[in-house]
Amino acid sequence: MQGVEIVPSLLSADFSQLGRELRSVERAGCRRLHLDIMDGRFAAHITFGAPVIASIRKVGRLFFQAHLMVERPERHLTDFAAAGVNCIIVHEEACSNTAKTIRRIKRLGLDAGVALRPKTPLKRIAGIAGCVDIILIMTVEPGSSGQAFIPGSEKKIRRLKAFLDKEGLDVPIGVDGGINIHTAARVKEAGATYLIAGSAVFRGQAGKNIRALYRSLKPC
Ligand code: DX5
Ligand code: ZN
Repeated sequence: MQGVEIVPSLLSADFSQLGRELRSVERAGCRRLHLDIMDGRFAAHITFGAPVIASIRKVGRLFFQAHLMVERPERHLTDFAAAGVNCIIVHEEACSNTAKTIRRIKRLGLDAGVALRPKTPLKRIAGIAGCVDIILIMTVEPGSSGQAFIPGSEKKIRRLKAFLDKEGLDVPIGVDGGINIHTAARVKEAGATYLIAGSAVFRGQAGKNIRALYRSLKPC
């Protein structure tokens, strides 16, 4: 497994300056970009979709991971693949057959991930953990950026890491929601690899914020 990475979540960026925002996180050393897609049903709000992604795909070389907070995500896989994403993460709670959806994502030549709402138990993904490229643990309710990290979420990450180790599965854990300079080291210590951060990156100067997040991960 590679080192821990900060993954900026575009939802908190300045949408009038998307190209500039992408360049600034790439310049700061980030390799992945997290794209939050909401349909107003699975999550209360509506964000953006494939046309916006296709347009920003022209900027830089970031790995695009789309986090689909939408009902029946299987309807949209080909659209997001055509828009140029590298990875599609679907919610276990939103799929009629998660294993089948994961297989369809893989057949499109993309990385596939599964996400869990804060209250969804880990046992729901035990059977597919070995078939995914990332498991995303939500540490806020899907819906918006800027929410507070749900206290105690580290326990779920630690239990997932222990399960994966026991099964001999080298699957990276992503953590999404409320990641900042105070919570980043806690989720890293619990076993997370990809730390998704929206407001902690884009509120203020992205480059400076990313450096501060990486500094917060180093032992003093
Ligand atoms: C929440 C989204 C998150 C969000 C994170 O529903 O899935 O990716 O953008 O934002 P912060 O880091 O501000 O909690
Ligand atoms: Zn997300």
